[in-house]
Amino acid sequence: MNVYDSGRMADVLAPEGYVSTDAVDDADLVILNTCHIREKAAEKVYSELGRIRDAKADGTMIAVAGCVAQAEGDEIMRRAPYVDIVVGPQSYHRLPKLIAEANPTQKAGSRSRVIDTDFPAESKFDFLPAAETQGPSVFLTIQEGCDKFCAFCVVPYTRGAEFSRPVEAVLKEARQLVAAGAAEITLLGQNVNAYHGDDDGLAGLIRKLADIDGLERLRYTTSHPRDMNQDLIAVHGEVPELMPYLHLPIQSGSDAILARMNRKHGAAEYLKIIDALRLARPDIALSSDFIVGHPGETDADFEATMALIKTVEYAQAYSFKYSKRPGTPASDMDDQVPEQVMSDRLAALQGLLNEQQLAFNEGAVGVSVPVLFERRGKLANQIAGRSPYMQSVHVTCRDAEEADQYFGQTMPVRITGAFANSLAGTLDDGTTAETTQREPARA
Ligand code: 5AD
Ligand code: SF4
Repeated sequence: MNVYDSGRMADVLAPEGYVSTDAVDDADLVILNTCHIREKAAEKVYSELGRIRDAKADGTMIAVAGCVAQAEGDEIMRRAPYVDIVVGPQSYHRLPKLIAEANPTQKAGSRSRVIDTDFPAESKFDFLPAAETQGPSVFLTIQEGCDKFCAFCVVPYTRGAEFSRPVEAVLKEARQLVAAGAAEITLLGQNVNAYHGDDDGLAGLIRKLADIDGLERLRYTTSHPRDMNQDLIAVHGEVPELMPYLHLPIQSGSDAILARMNRKHGAAEYLKIIDALRLARPDIALSSDFIVGHPGETDADFEATMALIKTVEYAQAYSFKYSKRPGTPASDMDDQVPEQVMSDRLAALQGLLNEQQLAFNEGAVGVSVPVLFERRGKLANQIAGRSPYMQSVHVTCRDAEEADQYFGQTMPVRITGAFANSLAGTLDDGTTAETTQREPARA
């Protein structure tokens, strides 16, 4: 979502005459967009700010945006006296006004320092200009905030209460993005499947979006098991534009830990959803988030997580050591897990997940998959994109001209090699018989 927000900040500043630059020393304004989800991310802000201060030109203004700005605005102003503006994730539509207030024509030191971490009554989305497309595959925020209050998580405090954009606004932005060249849209929200801007929820929105001419692919992230209703599961079997991939975090496989996490679901309930999804869309690839070492997690709890992973067989996943976040209920729980135990558990868990990911990727070798080419590869004449299952696929073209020709196109690719994090392939000329990706065992 920070990628999307950063793009929108650029959109809001474009009418003011700002253009993007990658060079800090070339910038009139540097905005550091920040993440507060784990301690490491938040701590990085201060070292990064120091680097920006050293690299920037004399008159350059510095703004800090995002969830660290929201949670620690005053602290940032105190620890980094050279920061001019602090702006939270719900008020960045006010950036032009905040910049004017800070008075950029004044020398650093005599400028005003401004901080805006309100949750304004108005929605920023009503004030943002039309989104500029960034390429063939783009993000679109449809929902923000969260009312779930998992015991470990800062999101309900930094992003605020759950909010859904009205369906008409989402459709309008989607049409603009497609008209500007997007072939794939990933719908974003901290709790995206709780979307209620359409009478039929996220399922209703997906059906409407799928009707947009030129929109080839749809995805959505991140979902909560609690909001994975029957209609949404059915959409996975009905709407061909909805890609066969779902990121559905469970966090832990232990009911005792899920209860302490205040997740409002158990492991069996989650597995039932997985089964229903695989019934609706047998080839669906699954992904999850896992936290190891949540307060109270015993060896047996951890083994329950490992067992669940073996049952589900993930195509990919993200995993983290529990990170104590100030102000969250879990940070006050008394049975915190020692660092070394967390490290050992994370290594074991990631070992298993990596094995599953490689096995999933190897299942694609020899198969022809449609790839939407959305990036240049690292090597000469290489283009890269994603399979329907979210795998990164690299293809080396004959020459630069061929690479240009296929950029932004969806092309069949015959997979020739599988690695832990990507696939290699060749453009499929249609001479080999079509096969399909191996279907995983049902949970
Ligand atoms: N510690 C570790 N991981 C966390 N996440 C959220 N809060 C924490 C925390 N305090 C993880 C969860 C969530 C993902 C976005 O980040 O797994 O799904
Ligand atoms: Fe955080 Fe997700 Fe739980 Fe909401 S549902 S509190 S965003 S982990």
